[in-house]
Amino acid sequence: MSAKRPLPMLGKRDPAEGPPAPLTTVGLTPRRSLLTDSFGRIHNNLRISVTDRCNLRCTYCMPEEVTFRDKSELLTFEEITAFVRVAAPLGIDKIRLTGGEPLMRKELHKLARMLADVPGIKDIGLTTNGLLLADHAQELFDAGLKRLNVSLDTLDPTRFRALTRRDGLEKVLEGLAEARRVGFAPIKVNAVAIRGFAEHDVVPLARYCRENGFELRFIEYMPIGADSWEREKVFFAHEILELIGREVAELVPANSDPSAPAQDYTYRDGFGILGGTVGVIASISRPFCHHCNRLRLTADGKLRNCLFALDETDVREQLRKPCMDTEALAETIRQSVWAKWEGHEINAATFVKPDRTMHAIGG
Ligand code: GTP
Ligand code: 5AD
Ligand code: SF4
Repeated sequence: MSAKRPLPMLGKRDPAEGPPAPLTTVGLTPRRSLLTDSFGRIHNNLRISVTDRCNLRCTYCMPEEVTFRDKSELLTFEEITAFVRVAAPLGIDKIRLTGGEPLMRKELHKLARMLADVPGIKDIGLTTNGLLLADHAQELFDAGLKRLNVSLDTLDPTRFRALTRRDGLEKVLEGLAEARRVGFAPIKVNAVAIRGFAEHDVVPLARYCRENGFELRFIEYMPIGADSWEREKVFFAHEILELIGREVAELVPANSDPSAPAQDYTYRDGFGILGGTVGVIASISRPFCHHCNRLRLTADGKLRNCLFALDETDVREQLRKPCMDTEALAETIRQSVWAKWEGHEINAATFVKPDRTMHAIGG
């Protein structure tokens, strides 16, 4: 691994020392032996990308022309589950399946069931673009997946096409309706807020989510796609909140978990009590890196300790060994977390965009 950015030196221990020897769990609360980085952040949240393929081509996420990885390069469901069996005793208890578009991976519900059966895994979620959701919602729900995030930036078919370079808005809306029918809760709708688009879409999306009981979250546009990112293109969280407060209804801050990336709001008029909340993920104007609890596994078996990491650690080779050494893999995971830097540095002159774009990292 070669760090292109300097390693953070503000932690309590020098990252070069490596993680402290794992503590035995005998006589200790399990959290003591967990995945901690040199800043003291405990990692319990694993985002697993199951494919780099996607049936959309969102401009902010991936290029129009793209070569996808060969199937042989992707971790099998068994390999992903083997990884999670090693990660769970280290403290991973929350999983989110991402892509590319995760529903492009055949029989994803089988993976959800395999992961739900791993001791220690408490929560499995899915982040999808919703195009294939209507067909798979029931089997995913039955497999134990309960938390669903659907990416939808606009309710206008023309802008949908401009942003995604494909058609499919109707399919996404069908998918959302079906997900609600089968009982997913919560259902979150994620919209990337890009200046020039979001001004038109914030209010219709807020009304639609309020009426349908979905939790709407706006995500500040980040430099992780194939297109050229400029700060001026970010439609900021405070602008979104002002617009909704003025055009839809007054918002009041809701208590939210400080480690969660979203700051949540409810409507003062109580409308939308069964969901209908609004959140902002202000990655640019209010980075949440100091509370970060995330680790990522890419579809091709690379461990990334940050969405914006410039280095990654291969675990596929270890997972493919005929006799996998689980302690060696556990140590690889610990080392990766320990080496994590302080945060993404998007707001600093030192920022370097990762080589992979979002679709190949995992949303
Ligand atoms: P839950 O907390 O489980 O609901 O999931 P989440 O909010 O992490 O999930 P989701 O996949 O919906 O993430 C929302 C958005 O936040 C993503 O689409 C990304 O744009 C952004 N995001 C996800 N992970 C990270 C991260 O590690 N760092 C930053 N800066 N942004 C992230
Ligand atoms: N900025 C913010 N969010 C992004 N996503 C993809 N690219 C970006 C970006 N440049 C989000 C999508 C989706 C998830 C997979 O990642 O909106 O919710
Ligand atoms: Fe964590 Fe990196 Fe995301 Fe910051 S940018 S929240 S450190 S994964």
